[in-house]
Amino acid sequence: MSDPTPYDRIGGEPAVRMLVDRFYDLMDLEHGYAGIRALHPASLEGSRDKLFWFLCGWLGGPPHYVDRFGHPMLRARHLPFTIGIAERDQWMACMKQAMADVGLEAEFAERLAASFFNTADWMRNRGA
Ligand code: HEM
Repeated sequence: MSDPTPYDRIGGEPAVRMLVDRFYDLMDLEHGYAGIRALHPASLEGSRDKLFWFLCGWLGGPPHYVDRFGHPMLRARHLPFTIGIAERDQWMACMKQAMADVGLEAEFAERLAASFFNTADWMRNRGA
């Protein structure tokens, strides 16, 4: 048997959905994330689905995003939005808070956060 993937470890689709829902609920609720909230559409329903589909594959589970849209080209898809250090750090803080709120074990959440950081930093298209 191969080692469990992060997708297995987190608890599969229902757990990924819960994480994404908490992430976007927080983005809507918390004043500290208003900067990145403003970059998103008025309704977050489409954003929730896309991040959920993407994260299932990114964590080693089913490739729902790729099945629907092909290669993610994530950096290119973020180019319409100004993403600098402040936006990256708000995204990371929101995701870390969401991971804690859904009860991910701290050491596992820290490892995921390190991977999220690499992806979030790669999305930066502005120096500051
Ligand atoms: C660094 C800060 C980030 C900001 C400010 C940001 C912001 C955004 C915005 C405004 C959208 C468009 C929402 C929509 O079309 O509904 C988007 C889409 C998306 N973001 Fe991010 N994002 C960031 C980082 C990330 C990271 C780290 C990931 C993955 C781990 C990610 C995954 C996605 C995905 C999968 C989409 C949908 C792309 C599409 O199909 O159009 N984003 N993001």
